[in-house]
Amino acid sequence: MTNHSDNTAQRAIVPPPPSAEDIAAANASAPDGPFQAKNFLARFRLDGKVAVVTGGARGLGFSMAEGLCSAGLKGVAILDVQTDLGLDAIKKLHDAYGVQAQFYKVDVRDENAVAEIMNSISAELGSIDILVNSAGIADLVHAEDYPADKFRRVIDINLNGSFVVAQACARHMISQGRGGSMIFIASMSGSIVNWPQPQSAYNASKAGVKHLMKSLSAEWAVHGIRCNAISPGYMDTALNRSYTTLFNEWKQRTPLGRLGDPDELTGAAIWLASEASAYCTGSDIIIDGGYTTL
Ligand SMILES: NC(=O)c1ccc[n+]([C@@H]2O[C@H](COP(=O)([O-])OP(=O)(O)OC[C@H]3O[C@@H](n4cnc5c(N)ncnc54)[C@H](O)[C@@H]3O)[C@@H](O)[C@H]2O)c1
Repeated sequence: MTNHSDNTAQRAIVPPPPSAEDIAAANASAPDGPFQAKNFLARFRLDGKVAVVTGGARGLGFSMAEGLCSAGLKGVAILDVQTDLGLDAIKKLHDAYGVQAQFYKVDVRDENAVAEIMNSISAELGSIDILVNSAGIADLVHAEDYPADKFRRVIDINLNGSFVVAQACARHMISQGRGGSMIFIASMSGSIVNWPQPQSAYNASKAGVKHLMKSLSAEWAVHGIRCNAISPGYMDTALNRSYTTLFNEWKQRTPLGRLGDPDELTGAAIWLASEASAYCTGSDIIIDGGYTTL
């Protein structure tokens, strides 16, 4: 039998109402100052900043790199395994936005190569302020047939690769002493299970990316490094269009009735990269046309 009088759990506390003196003192110490117009949009600018974008040779990574360049970046480093696409990407970014753009061929799983490249980036472009971790792969395999090496490869690129790059980048940001902003491209698949396609490794990897981001945000806050995630739903990319049957199914299951344009992630990327989001860390922004609300 439960003895209710023995209940030692602490009760919620209702504080006494503040006195007139408390209110006057609080008003005097409030950080607001006199009212004046502020330029909120200026806080979204990235002038003079340097960004590293993995998987930026194409797709969502390229689109977010472009968004950051349009907000005034001084330099952008594209890290990818695809050389031709990477070189084409930096030419486009340089020609369109006048930004100093460099391509580095690297596999995000290779921690030694990634560490060397971070040294080259800070020597060639300057202190690193922003990281977008977008490199990733997916495959569709029934779980009971999933070969172990294929399963491991997805986890290794999507999750371990995100850590390898974030760690190398954080070491620079910490030694520079200026903080920074890291954006992890997770997925709505880190919160829900996609259907009808089988993608257990991908879903697990993206759930891992989200929790990795949260762990790093707590550890690195002391260094002024903010970590957040963007979790896209189904986006209208060439690869997704090639799955004709699934494409229509995804469209029907999305409340907004369409897949997302890759450019529709850039607003969030600019916000997270910039001072406009200075109090945001450890957050996951789901941009999915409402898919995960159902
Ligand atoms: N497209 C979508 O609908 C969607 C939805 C949710 C999340 N995402 C995520 O967004 C990110 C980008 O997806 P995308 O659709 O643009 O894919 P994509 O295949 O077009 O681009 C991924 C890029 O990453 C690069 N890459 C792959 N493995 C790499 C490695 N080991 N080292 C370095 N670079 C590597 C590829 O060469 C490619 O350029 C991925 O992390 C993906 O999981 C995509």
